[in-house]
Amino acid sequence: MILRYSRIPFYLLMTIAVAGIVVPELYAAQKNPLLQRLQQKMSDPDLRRQAMFAGEERALICGYCHGNDGNSLKPEVPNLAGQNTDYLLEQVGRFARGERKDYVMNSLAGKFTADDQINLAIYYAAQKVKPGEYDYAKAVLGKPIYLQQCQACHGKLGLGNRGYARLAGQKPNYIKLTLERFRDNASGKAGDKKRHSAVMEPIVGNLTDQDILALAAYLASL
Ligand code: HEC
Ligand code: HEC
Repeated sequence: MILRYSRIPFYLLMTIAVAGIVVPELYAAQKNPLLQRLQQKMSDPDLRRQAMFAGEERALICGYCHGNDGNSLKPEVPNLAGQNTDYLLEQVGRFARGERKDYVMNSLAGKFTADDQINLAIYYAAQKVKPGEYDYAKAVLGKPIYLQQCQACHGKLGLGNRGYARLAGQKPNYIKLTLERFRDNASGKAGDKKRHSAVMEPIVGNLTDQDILALAAYLASL
């Protein structure tokens, strides 16, 4: 019999995740020199201010899609405003290494130095997310699913935490696209394989199209 991740009880997944077996990268993070350098800049007010200025300058080229203040101008492009520093750094690194695939992002990320990546993460994390539009009726349906299946890692208010993505206020179309992508990978369907996550795939494996729309609306409402 083929082992279906979706049949693994949810509490078991949680225990494994908390034990750091499913998300070893987050625990290995403590030894990651980039994250150490980021922490150093975050904890020194002068270094942090310099990083903000340098990041803002580098972000000029990103503004066309992500907005100058990290509030995205396009439905399929994620907001970066208010996103968590470690998560931003990790994702830029994945684009740079080609582990996460997007034509523009792969070529841009590959050109940045380690300091550029850190400064961009510090700049965007400090920006405020502007409320966007969402479907209220769908958001009401999404709340219980979120609280039951997602808050353990992404937080009660969707703010995530360091290496865990903030989802609050994220563009609903981007959330939908991303969850569908993870679900298609999980179901063995010929997904586009642009992004792979051993943690997220089993979790979204059982979501219906309606659940995904409801979650996307709820997250946009936070
Ligand atoms: C031409 C449009 C475009 C430009 C310019 C662009 N991006 Fe992106 N970016 C995208 C798209 C589209 C995605 C989502 C890719 C996907 O997963 O489908 C993305 C994703 C990201 C993510 C991942 C966010 C998340 O929530 O996982 C980060 C971080 C990011 N971009 C940073 C940057 C930075 C920094 C720059 C400037 C150096 C930049 N981007 C320029 C289109 C763009
Ligand atoms: C066990 C912890 C865990 C749980 C529970 C969890 N997630 Fe995640 N989530 C992650 C991790 C880790 C990532 C980063 C994946 C990657 O590296 O690409 C992530 C990424 C995401 C992303 C992409 C964020 C972005 O900006 O691109 C979305 C959307 C998301 N999760 C939604 C959800 C939803 C909705 C649920 C509940 C149905 C959920 N997650 C439950 C750990 C979790």
